[in-house]
Amino acid sequence: MNIDQFVSIISTTPSADNSQPWLVSNDGQNLSIRYFHRSNTPDPFGAFGHATLISGGALQETIDTLLQLGGQPTSQSIVRTSEKTWILDIPTSAILLANPDSDYSRITLRHTNRHPFKPFGGAIPTLPSGEQDCKVSVITRSSDISILASCLKSCCEARFNNQELHEWLFSSLRWTEDEAGSGSGLDVSTLHLPPGGRFFMHGIAPWERMKFLNKLGLYKLMALADTMPFRSAPAIMAFIGKTNWKDIWDTGKCMQRTWISLNQQGFSVHPYYAITDLGNRLKNGELHPHWVEPVKNAQEDIRNLLSLNHDEELHMLFRVGMSKTIPVRSRRLPTNAFFEPAQSIFDENTE
Ligand SMILES: Cc1cc2nc3c(=O)[nH]c(=O)nc-3n(C[C@H](O)[C@H](O)[C@H](O)COP(=O)(O)O)c2cc1C
Repeated sequence: MNIDQFVSIISTTPSADNSQPWLVSNDGQNLSIRYFHRSNTPDPFGAFGHATLISGGALQETIDTLLQLGGQPTSQSIVRTSEKTWILDIPTSAILLANPDSDYSRITLRHTNRHPFKPFGGAIPTLPSGEQDCKVSVITRSSDISILASCLKSCCEARFNNQELHEWLFSSLRWTEDEAGSGSGLDVSTLHLPPGGRFFMHGIAPWERMKFLNKLGLYKLMALADTMPFRSAPAIMAFIGKTNWKDIWDTGKCMQRTWISLNQQGFSVHPYYAITDLGNRLKNGELHPHWVEPVKNAQEDIRNLLSLNHDEELHMLFRVGMSKTIPVRSRRLPTNAFFEPAQSIFDENTE
């Protein structure tokens, strides 16, 4: 397989708002991938931010799966860290030896579906076999899903009142075919919007307007709309792990392995990150005082429901079901957008 084909397949890895925050360099011996914030807006996560680590782990899982499907020994990728960033190294020889004609569709067919789901019918999703890098709880009892949905609603309400998160989301949205065609960010066609929803979303893009409308309760309506499909989901999967960077990374691996497997079994997946994200903002003292109590209560309810140990956290939730609607697929940046000269990756990490 050539390097371009490799980068094109691994770029299908999921990332928050489809930000694809990676840069690749090739020194001939190793292909090295590191974190890179692409947008002009302030970086809400950073190289060791939680969402970055989840998608970094997912990226490593994609690489290992690709090498395995290409007939190569897995576990050839290595993560190393500097003070500023992490770097994922893959021996170039392993990439070049991977069979270009193998079937990589289980990687490339993985996707997000934000539409409402049907119940499972007779089908039961199974989790990938083998040793897992994190704990996965499957919640199917409607009273438990209802508790989770209430926690999600509180965190969504806080999120819709947060200027940084509002501006990050709206800087990610791609409204037109041309914008979506550039391959980065969140194509609005991938969202589940009611009739007129696109127009409405355009209207609330300026934060000052959203802030004003929030005084009239808009955030409550939006949080309700966000949690409705979640509340009626056939199942929720909770990804749980410890809190140091490596455990979060490993949860990203486990998440990606499970997501690929669920899609391959014919189940649809919609990730929900608001509870984890707002929980981290609470821990870091980044929440407006008004939202501290509701988010704290939501986190406590989650800990009780999922019986989390003192050193465990909820890292991600999946809504899982059978698809009613075939979703529009997110696109990706062209392969050359991921490359930079080998020298500059070296410079950045030896400063
Ligand atoms: C860390 C992380 C957080 C995410 N949070 C959400 C979320 O809260 N809501 C959502 O609809 N999608 C969420 N996603 C899914 C991404 O938006 C999605 O993977 C990306 O847009 C690419 O689309 P694809 O999964 O169809 O390839 C998240 C993904 C990651 C890796």
